[in-house]
Amino acid sequence: MRVDILTCQPELLASPLGHSIVKRAQEKGLVEVHLHQLRDRAINKHGQIDDYVFGGGAGMVLRVEPIAAWLDELRAQRPYEAIIYLTPDGEVLRQPLANRLSLLGNIILLCGHYKGVDQRIRDEYVTHEISLGDYVLSGGELAAAVLVDAVVRLLPGVLGNEESALSDSFQDDLLAPPVYTRPAEWRGRAVPEILLSGNTPRIEEWRHEQALARTQVRRPDLLQ
Ligand code: ADE
Repeated sequence: MRVDILTCQPELLASPLGHSIVKRAQEKGLVEVHLHQLRDRAINKHGQIDDYVFGGGAGMVLRVEPIAAWLDELRAQRPYEAIIYLTPDGEVLRQPLANRLSLLGNIILLCGHYKGVDQRIRDEYVTHEISLGDYVLSGGELAAAVLVDAVVRLLPGVLGNEESALSDSFQDDLLAPPVYTRPAEWRGRAVPEILLSGNTPRIEEWRHEQALARTQVRRPDLLQ
């Protein structure tokens, strides 16, 4: 998979992309992530990429030219299966959407800033609009970092067997069951005995019951 990210704040993405699982996936050659600075295609030598809102109102809007220049350039180099704009008015990111995105080859993520991007970019290029949730971030960068993490960890070979994405919360519409490690007792709190029993089928059954109970209490909406 190849991910190209258009942003005016690449520093916000460098650290999350340069650590942990996403870093390992890049080192293994399972994903390539490229950051592109919108200011490198600014409309003048002052580095301008944004402008006032037509019709009046507070805030700035990212202009079409720097974004269009990058998108045209990238699309001339290879085909892209998705051009994704991160925005609070997009489809909320949930596991099934992350699963679908993980099957794509080349994708572009566009990070908005200030009041967002000129609507004509969305009309002309964008194929998916994705939100992290019903709150407003200062820009799309943190959302893009979250999206890349959620997608990359699903790519075959990224996670080892022992940390398989299939056992995650949400992968089967259930929250994850509680987990424990040593010591078996701490401040009078004992690990549930079943987990020390070695009885694998009973343990799996217990985990499923716990997952179901937790989901019923915390997220009944996941069970419909
Ligand atoms: N940009 C600003 N807020 C956002 C959100 N909630 N999700 C995705 N991108 C955003």
